[in-house]
Amino acid sequence: MKIYIEKDYNALSKRAADIIASFLKQKPTTILGLPTGSTPQKMYGMLAEKCEKREITFKRVKTFNLDEYSGLSAEDQKSYHFFMKKNLFSKTDIDIKNTFFPNDFKPDYQKYDKKIKESGGIDLQVLGIGRDGHIGFNEPGSKFSSKTRKIYLAKTTVEDNSRFFESKKDVPRKAVTMGISTIMGAKKIILLASGEKKSEAIFNTIFGPVSTKVPASILQRHKNVIVILDKESAKKFKIK
Ligand code: PGA
Repeated sequence: MKIYIEKDYNALSKRAADIIASFLKQKPTTILGLPTGSTPQKMYGMLAEKCEKREITFKRVKTFNLDEYSGLSAEDQKSYHFFMKKNLFSKTDIDIKNTFFPNDFKPDYQKYDKKIKESGGIDLQVLGIGRDGHIGFNEPGSKFSSKTRKIYLAKTTVEDNSRFFESKKDVPRKAVTMGISTIMGAKKIILLASGEKKSEAIFNTIFGPVSTKVPASILQRHKNVIVILDKESAKKFKIK
């Protein structure tokens, strides 16, 4: 694992956007795996800016999102389809036909894994992390061999994500997520974390045992992982 500890959220976002941009310059047909949530939001803004300045293009890029809530339509403002359109797709030259979400493969979600494979596999997978160590919506207990599937959200995830909804009861309890083996199939992975509330999960991910109790800990077994943190999320590291 290569680990960057940046001074703040802005620097973390810039580091991630710069890495992705140089990747896209080298391979204009990159297959990207993408997350949603608060953490990647600024990174997306920076990528959109680079595209507007014609430093990069998404014309031949394909994207596969990590997850989506069950029961929300693509037009629902709380859906991850909507999030991606708002934060990245509508602000770049990407062809919307090249953007994919796992729940659109209902009822056979493993067709998503097949689609990823047929496209050549994910070149670069970007991940956030949950307070409980989840990646995508692979909550603690998820098998490392898991593929794309429907899951129940953990209690902490429902609590954390309730900030995007009117109230906790409005948060969908089910979602469709890429599996852990789907994620591990990516050629390169970037894990992002910001803020003190992620510090325990990050510490366990990097220094703890590889365990399904902390799904992200499996990343220790991947050959090509970059972790980009801000100081708060790296708070538990003892740095001299
Ligand atoms: P966040 O979510 O970026 O909104 O903190 C990350 C995650 O739950 O994977």
